[in-house]
Amino acid sequence: MTRTVTPRRVFGQLDSTNAEALRLARSGVRGPLWIDAECQTLGRGRLGRHWMSERGNLLTSYLFAPKAAMENLHQLSLLTGVAVFEAIESLAVNNSDELWLKWPNDIMLGTAKAGGVLVESTTFSDETVVVIGIGLNVAVAPNVSGVATADLRSVLPTTVNLSDLRIRLGETVEEWIGVWSCGDEFTKVRTAWLKKAPKIGTPLTINAGGDVYSGQFAGLDETGSLCLTHPTGEVRCYTFGDVSRTSID
Ligand code: BTN
Repeated sequence: MTRTVTPRRVFGQLDSTNAEALRLARSGVRGPLWIDAECQTLGRGRLGRHWMSERGNLLTSYLFAPKAAMENLHQLSLLTGVAVFEAIESLAVNNSDELWLKWPNDIMLGTAKAGGVLVESTTFSDETVVVIGIGLNVAVAPNVSGVATADLRSVLPTTVNLSDLRIRLGETVEEWIGVWSCGDEFTKVRTAWLKKAPKIGTPLTINAGGDVYSGQFAGLDETGSLCLTHPTGEVRCYTFGDVSRTSID
């Protein structure tokens, strides 16, 4: 079977690959299309944060128009985490057992963040266009106040360049989007994600908009929300928030 290669637009500098993708969507582009930048001046992170976008790191967005229900689109963060993990793992030489996924969209190396995913969408009459933005600290771990960051130099061989990684990532993201089937097969994504996540029972804390809850990781529900077992035994699932491992002193 022949595989169609998705076109790519490569920029030296952009404000943000996600912003460029959304501009293209407004001008009628429906993808699929990859947009790459060597650096970004206004990289966008989750929850309105800035994404430090150094040269040498991977900065890309995938624009497409899935026929999925709006409520399934947040599953794409988890799906992309799995795809990024697999792309890195398939090219890695060392240290890939230090890689794990932190709910909902972080790629971690040991205790530090090595990458993140930002899914944005916009609707035109009855058509939804989705942009999956991926930032990976390949060569540079940026200095971000309050966040431990890592680069992937200890994982990826020096022979792997950004272009190899973009191509591999393109394959894994598109494969997983196929598997996902607009959310009908989210269970497969969830199963794969859980294999790369902390073990069930790991003590976690979630800060959900200023409300902080601690409990033991109890998996993901059928929609992809993070579930914690609280000390009372009650299991609660959260749709958003920042997760950290609870330190047990
Ligand atoms: C996060 O906060 O963890 C998500 C970060 C996502 C950053 C990427 S870099 C490429 C794409 N363009 C952006 O402006 N943001 C995403």
